[in-house]
Amino acid sequence: MLETCEYGSLEDNTKVTMYKLDNGRMKAALIDYGASLVSMETPDGSGKMEDVTLAWSSLEGWVTNECYFGATVGRYANRIAGGKFTLDETDYRLAVNNGPNHLHGGIVGFNRRMWTASSVESRTGNGVKFEYSSPDGEEGYPGRLDVSVTYTLTSGGELKIEYEGITDKPTIVNLTHHSYWNLAGHHSGSILDHRLQLNASSYLPVDENSIPTGQPASVENTPMDFRKPRRIGEGIDSVEGGYDHNWCLDADSGLSQAAVLSHPGTGRVMEMETTEPGVQFYTANFLSGEKGKDEATYPRRSGLCLEAQKWPDSPNRPGFPSAVLRPGETYRQTCIYRFYTG
Ligand code: GLA
Repeated sequence: MLETCEYGSLEDNTKVTMYKLDNGRMKAALIDYGASLVSMETPDGSGKMEDVTLAWSSLEGWVTNECYFGATVGRYANRIAGGKFTLDETDYRLAVNNGPNHLHGGIVGFNRRMWTASSVESRTGNGVKFEYSSPDGEEGYPGRLDVSVTYTLTSGGELKIEYEGITDKPTIVNLTHHSYWNLAGHHSGSILDHRLQLNASSYLPVDENSIPTGQPASVENTPMDFRKPRRIGEGIDSVEGGYDHNWCLDADSGLSQAAVLSHPGTGRVMEMETTEPGVQFYTANFLSGEKGKDEATYPRRSGLCLEAQKWPDSPNRPGFPSAVLRPGETYRQTCIYRFYTG
């Protein structure tokens, strides 16, 4: 049985519920608003529990802010240049909400929708499944898209996130999970002392609006080279604004390791696996002292996101992995964040 409690209510009195998962070693809490992760408690090397994900202290934070803390992002995570794309010779215009571009599903993306929750029990652990039906034309996207995201806290120390989607017209789909991690604890300030490995030999250079300028470029001899574990603070100041780029993963297909994040001070390690071809690594460059849960303050670079996804602007880039979903097909994605100590 899933433990639940009331989390808050929206202006129209819709109740938002919190769902708690516990595998005996780790605990997670999620809400049906945005199918968002609100807390993730994991032990350090000495067994001390700490909540390692940034979050708001109440529902209002999620409703009024643009940070996407812990949220499910969609219908298309990351940017689409000019908020425009063409599919099957039809031009579509999406909501423009990030300079001249479309970002993270638009003005009211999946992070600001109410999802319907149900409890899921499997051999590997207990979970919660959130479902949402996005109508044809929502934020400019073609086709009705029925999506689900299932979070399971497995006995193997994983937060496993599985996505599915079907459509009634050709459309584009690119969902992601947008938690800001800080393995020292969400209130601990800078993440620059974390070490990161990203299994990617190339990344996408971007223009001033974070739109890819062209084809993937090699990470060799650049601050983007995380093929071996590297302190995040080492190269960050050589990258304008900090890290906020898509790494093109080396793995060909299937569920593969994408990243390993570790915090030497506490011994916490978070390994990430994904079925997706890219990871947006974002160092919370736009945070600026937001007030979070437990009286925490979140300065710039006090969390980091590892967002599994298709490459940005793929609907306008014939050479990039496709985000197109057609009637009769099922969109599937799995992303695992595995926690252990080392
Ligand atoms: C993503 C983007 C960033 C920023 C954050 C949300 O990761 O790449 O540029 O918009 O989301 O603040």
